[in-house]
Amino acid sequence: MREVVIRKPDDFHLHLRDGDLLKLVAPVAAKHFARALVMPNLDPPVVTMADALNYRERILQSLPGMLSFTPLMTLYLTDNTDAGDVERAIEENVIRAVKLYPAGATTNARHGVTDYTGIGDVLRVLSGAGTPLCVHGEDPDPRTDIFDREGVFITGPLQRIRDAHPDLKIVLEHITTREAVAYVRAHRTRTAATITAHHLVLNRNDILAGGIRPHNYCLPVAKREEHRQTLMAAAVSGDACFFLGTDSAPHDRIRKESSCGCAGIFTSPVTMPLLAGLFEDAGALDRLEAFVAGFGSEFYGLEPNSGTIRLHKTGPYQPPGLIRDQVHTVVVFDPGHPLTWQVET
Ligand code: DOR
Ligand code: ZN
Repeated sequence: MREVVIRKPDDFHLHLRDGDLLKLVAPVAAKHFARALVMPNLDPPVVTMADALNYRERILQSLPGMLSFTPLMTLYLTDNTDAGDVERAIEENVIRAVKLYPAGATTNARHGVTDYTGIGDVLRVLSGAGTPLCVHGEDPDPRTDIFDREGVFITGPLQRIRDAHPDLKIVLEHITTREAVAYVRAHRTRTAATITAHHLVLNRNDILAGGIRPHNYCLPVAKREEHRQTLMAAAVSGDACFFLGTDSAPHDRIRKESSCGCAGIFTSPVTMPLLAGLFEDAGALDRLEAFVAGFGSEFYGLEPNSGTIRLHKTGPYQPPGLIRDQVHTVVVFDPGHPLTWQVET
């Protein structure tokens, strides 16, 4: 039996939701991870330090006592965000990042940024404190082709922010294109990117060919196969500017299997087994630990985790399918092939 012991992973991009859905998904999302950077796109969003403190409390209450898990909080940047409040939230260690959603780019992004000239004060605070700006890097203009949205954002607003704030740490979230990989490499001193497990597996055919598969739909949408291959190469490259952020984004099944299905893939339970198989196939199992438990914390200026997890190779098995309570059913990501690794718990 093949076994790998690695430092306990961090997920640097996670959606935990709120209310009953939070109670359902949090224990599952926390199971294989020591910490996660929790996205603030609730409705209404987490915009102030007080919002983040309250949300952190609700997250901790949704976790069973034995589970040691640290939610790393973020604030949702709006046109009206108070830079002083952001500064206090950083000083008091309440938040670890601020998230920029271009207005309308994705789920609950309608309160996002419409005017990039108005966010300078917040970006200066982040820059001074060494706190990253996490960016949903897609141009939300409905006239922009959905497959071009990432590239248009990178060459437009992202480059302007990069030029105006050379010391700002920027994380380009859930990258999906060759162009994004190249951009991050070219600006690597202060720029990094998260890569999801599902973008390492899916190309756009997996969403659209032979029938629409709503559970493979997320934003940014998966691109051509050549982009997937570039992402895979970046993930196993050992380059410190690429690290795991799952973007695990649970939605009720009924909201996904709809005439207007929403974006988001719930990957938390399968991420670690899936990544172990992908890294093994790429001959890079020895680089898995840095990707999931090294480069991210380094970029965020956090200590690496002290605990470990043990992964072992098993016979092929099917992913769990779904999680549910009396009200909610959430479909778990199916990579389209059996898993062959398991996390020992
Ligand atoms: O697919 C996505 N789902 N992409 C996002 O950016 C947001 C997320 C969500 O919150 O559902
Ligand atoms: Zn996300």
